[in-house]
Amino acid sequence: MGTKSALTQRLGVVAGFEDPRVDLEQYHTPPGLAAEIVHLADLQGDIERRRVLDLGCGTGMLALGTALRGPRSVIGIDLDRAALEAAVANEHRVGSTTSVSWVRADATRPPLAADGPTTVVMNPPFGAQAGNEHADRRFLRAAAALAGVSYSVHNGDSLSFLESFAADNGGRVTRAFAAECRLPATYEFHAESARTIDVEVVRIAWADD
Ligand SMILES: C[S@@+](CC[C@H](N)C(=O)[O-])C[C@H]1O[C@@H](n2cnc3c(N)ncnc32)[C@H](O)[C@@H]1O
Repeated sequence: MGTKSALTQRLGVVAGFEDPRVDLEQYHTPPGLAAEIVHLADLQGDIERRRVLDLGCGTGMLALGTALRGPRSVIGIDLDRAALEAAVANEHRVGSTTSVSWVRADATRPPLAADGPTTVVMNPPFGAQAGNEHADRRFLRAAAALAGVSYSVHNGDSLSFLESFAADNGGRVTRAFAAECRLPATYEFHAESARTIDVEVVRIAWADD
């Protein structure tokens, strides 16, 4: 297994959203955070020889990280065609060993059947936009339906909510860590040149697979 810092470096070539859509909460996952999630998942035995799904894959950052760690297959799903085009270009930049299938679909109702041991990785919309409240809950329900285990990024200070949400949906939070996510000023209404937000990353075991 490679090191976390080597993975961070490898993911450093992944380009961000060219024209990010605020309605879809298109924020790029920083390479350091993506590497931390993927490396932890690999150490837990949650990537090798498993199907990996990246729900709301955007630029492909998380999917591409897992593709470097020996999965059986990787599928990245996003609603936005432009994001998927960026992900394809990023796949060429990263030069992953496992190729990724990019699928345009609603990740909360993914057109996928059960297909052996499956891990979900995702940095879903937090539901910050009017009309899209609780989007992260819909993504978690999709993970519960499809995967034995999931890794997901959420608002900081949401650990106790995530623990009870997982329990209510047949899962259990088995790992959690807080992180900081430095976001560039993506949208015109962001006055600062960049801002740092607190996030919570959780591993949820949903079912034996
Ligand atoms: C916070 S971004 C994270 C993107 C990605 N992990 C990255 O680092 O580039 C959330 C992503 O979810 C996608 N998205 C939002 N709602 C969606 C839905 N219902 N189905 C599929 N993708 C969705 C957005 O287009 C966006 O790419």
